[in-house]
Amino acid sequence: MDLRPLLAQLSDGLFHSGERLGSDLGLSRAAVWKQVEKLKAMGVEVHSVTGKGYRLPSALNLLCLEEIQRSLGADSPQWQQSLCVLFSVDSTNTEVVRRMRHGTDRYIVVADHQSVGRGRRGRAWVSPLGANIYMSIGWSFQSGIAALEGLSLVVAVLVVRALGHCGFHGITLKWPNDVLVDGRKLAGILLEVSGDVGGPCRVVIGIGINVRMPGAAAQQIDQPYTDLAANFGSKIDRNMIAAAMILELTRGLEEFERSGFSTFHSQWDDLDTYKGRMVELRAATTVTQGVVQGVDQSGGLILDTGDGVKVMAGGELHTTLRPVTGAAPHDS
Ligand code: BTN
Repeated sequence: MDLRPLLAQLSDGLFHSGERLGSDLGLSRAAVWKQVEKLKAMGVEVHSVTGKGYRLPSALNLLCLEEIQRSLGADSPQWQQSLCVLFSVDSTNTEVVRRMRHGTDRYIVVADHQSVGRGRRGRAWVSPLGANIYMSIGWSFQSGIAALEGLSLVVAVLVVRALGHCGFHGITLKWPNDVLVDGRKLAGILLEVSGDVGGPCRVVIGIGINVRMPGAAAQQIDQPYTDLAANFGSKIDRNMIAAAMILELTRGLEEFERSGFSTFHSQWDDLDTYKGRMVELRAATTVTQGVVQGVDQSGGLILDTGDGVKVMAGGELHTTLRPVTGAAPHDS
C-alpha cells in the first residue's frame, strides 16, 4: 500500500473530503479510510470531521530528493548519487548497511518514517511518519577502528553546526553525543562500527532529529525530549535541514579523517551542558560520581571524583542533586 500520494494530498493542512481524495487517487472512499487508518498507525495525526473530511493539524513538507538536492546546490558532495530518500524503512542505519554491501564507500539514507528505529543502549527510537528527520550516513575509514576515537562527539558537534546554519541556536550537548535544548533531548546519534582494528572499517552514523513530535508518538518516549517546533516555531523545512546535515557531515567527516577529534575539541567544550556540574555516570556494574571537567583528546569524559581525576570511556550521564562542593563522591 503506497501511502505517499494520500499524505501528499493532505500535506497542505486543509480539509479534503474522502470522496475527492478517492477520485484524485483512484481509490474508493473505503480504501481512502483504510489508508488514513494506516497513516495514523504510522504516527500521523489526521483529524476527521463529518461533512468536511480529513486534514492534518498543520501543513507538512514531505522529504524529497529533488528538494534536498536543490538546497545542496553547488555545494553538493560529489558522491551525492549515493543519497536516497525513502518514505518508510525499518531503520535508516540498516538500510545503509544493505546499500553498502556492494562496495560503496559512502552512502546516505534519509527517511520520513522508521518502523524499527534504534536508539543507543538497545532502546527504540520513536520515529513517526512525516514528523522528524531520520538519517544515516555510511562512511568507510581506511585507518582502523582506533582512529575513530572521539568520532561520536564530533558528529554531535556537526549536528549543532548544521542546525545553527538553519537558524536554530542555543543547542547544547551532553556527553557523549546527546543534542539538547534546555536539558531536553532534541536529537540522538547512534554509531555502528564494523571492520578491522588496524585496517579499513565502516561506520554507520544514524541521526534522529525531533522536528515536530506528534503527541501520541511522544507518549512512547521514556526520557525528557523536545523538538524544533516547540523551540523555534512551526515553519520548519525538513528538506533544508537534511541538506544542511549532509553538507556539514561531509565536510566534518573529511576534517575528522585528516585531524581527528583535536580540531573539534574546543567547540565540544563550549557546547558542553554539564561542564562544572556534579554528575553520576552509570555503567553496567558501576556508578561513578564526580564533577565534569570536560573531555580528553580521545573524547573520554574527565570526572573529578574527589578521590582523583578519572577519564571515563562509557556509561550514561545523569545529573545529581549533590552540590559540587560537599561530601566526597564515590564509586560503587
Ligand atoms: C539515541 O538513542 O540517542 C540515538 C538515536 C539514533 C536514532 C537514529 S534515527 C536514524 C538512525 N536509524 C536508527 O534506527 N537510529 C538512528
